[in-house]
Amino acid sequence: MQTPPDSWDDAYDKLPVTYSHLKGLAWTTVREQYALANFLPKQGMMLEVGTASGVTAAIVATYRPDARIVSLDIFEPAAHADEDRVSHDDADPLKRFGNWADNARKNQSLFVGTLMQFRRLQPVVRFDLIFIDGGHNFESVYNDLLLAPSLLKEGGTIICHDYNDPTWFQVTDAVNQFVQEQPFDLVSTVGSLAIMKARSI
Ligand SMILES: C[S@@+](CC[C@H](N)C(=O)[O-])C[C@H]1O[C@@H](n2cnc3c(N)ncnc32)[C@H](O)[C@@H]1O
Repeated sequence: MQTPPDSWDDAYDKLPVTYSHLKGLAWTTVREQYALANFLPKQGMMLEVGTASGVTAAIVATYRPDARIVSLDIFEPAAHADEDRVSHDDADPLKRFGNWADNARKNQSLFVGTLMQFRRLQPVVRFDLIFIDGGHNFESVYNDLLLAPSLLKEGGTIICHDYNDPTWFQVTDAVNQFVQEQPFDLVSTVGSLAIMKARSI
């Protein structure tokens, strides 16, 4: 994995992020991409809920070539609450799907469907890192958060994107309610990543 730069400048926190060798937009900042890779063990397993063009997933897959990254998405029309980012990505879900296929590294795979459907079809595999960035309304985020622990390895990490972003206040509400009600702690934040671990007893 590349080492992060010694000193971060503002560019590492800016959106949108595009890469000349990848199609579409990463909805995460460079700083967030490094953080995701750092929470994924070298030979670990990551599950990304909501992948869009798969740019974030491809970057993490490049940082962690010996890890396995599974992404899922329902490929619905892009959320227009965030015009700034949507205007840089493909609102057309079929284009995002095509981008994903073109961007994917060898250590990536894709499931088309919801987290509930994914768990029903493969109830056995457990992940070191579950990254939630799918539906952004309260119910969707909260339900994904409730499902995540059953797919998480012991000691694993759940990370939810867009926490404390005023555009996505329902994401913040869902994360806060989840850590209030479930045995998980919000241990830190990086950019808009809410990083959660099972509470130690
Ligand atoms: C913000 S984008 C994901 C960005 C991606 N994680 C990245 O960093 O580049 C959200 C994606 O979630 C998908 N989505 C929306 N609701 C979903 C759900 N309930 N389950 C899975 N994916 C969902 C949308 O189709 C969209 O492509």
